[in-house]
Amino acid sequence: MNIKLKIWRQKNKDTAGHFEEYSLSGIEEHMSFLEMLDVLNERLFKEGKEPVAFDSDCREGICGQCGLVINGMAHGPIRSTTCQLHMRHIAEDPSFSDGDTITIEPWRATGFPVLKDLIVDRSALDRIVQAGGYISVNTGAAPEAHSVPVEKPKADRAFEAAACIGCGACVAACPNASAMLFTAAKITHLGLLPQGQPERYIRVINMLNQHDEEGFGGCTNIGECAAVCPKSVPIDVISQLNRDMGKARFKGVHVH
Ligand code: SF4
Ligand code: FES
Repeated sequence: MNIKLKIWRQKNKDTAGHFEEYSLSGIEEHMSFLEMLDVLNERLFKEGKEPVAFDSDCREGICGQCGLVINGMAHGPIRSTTCQLHMRHIAEDPSFSDGDTITIEPWRATGFPVLKDLIVDRSALDRIVQAGGYISVNTGAAPEAHSVPVEKPKADRAFEAAACIGCGACVAACPNASAMLFTAAKITHLGLLPQGQPERYIRVINMLNQHDEEGFGGCTNIGECAAVCPKSVPIDVISQLNRDMGKARFKGVHVH
């Protein structure tokens, strides 16, 4: 494949960014998208130019580090993490033909300031978890599995929500830059398990307050978040969050 790349370059969070264009030829369709960027960076390095900064770690769809907006879509044209996207997926995309330009941008949201080029600071998601996405009772060593019975539907639902890897694509895709799918996933997986009950209602209040403080927007049921989520976290976890929030208010739960 011969491709052109239009990539967002930004020195740091205090400077304005801009797009720069690069041409690459002989790109194998079986390369991953990140390997294609590695090829570009090797070339830039040899030319004495600054490589494009982007995040990645596991490159196996597990860690959530690798988010990019590719041709306007969070993680690109297929529902996966960016590291699991291959150049053949781009080639098979009907809106793309050989020689076309691929636009690559960082996640764009107030809560995710750009640190450099394509890398954003996603620590706001960590702070939402720190506000309540944990169980503070000492559960000791792992108990015998049958000693804490969990109904199968609840276990399945909790597991579905726990699949969230904190990549932030839901925020990047949402016109309101809302992190509600992420926050609701954490609230749902803890709130359905017996260990999560003691802090269930204070958790939802504290996590939502932190969500708002970080500058993420509200949910208006658009659904882009679930459409791009690489781990298929369902949008109705947000209903679970809203139900828990309603109960917290009814119970008169106050922030610590
Ligand atoms: S809910 Fe999905 S899109 Fe959002 S952070 Fe979790 S894995 Fe990523
Ligand atoms: S690099 Fe870990 S999920 Fe992509």
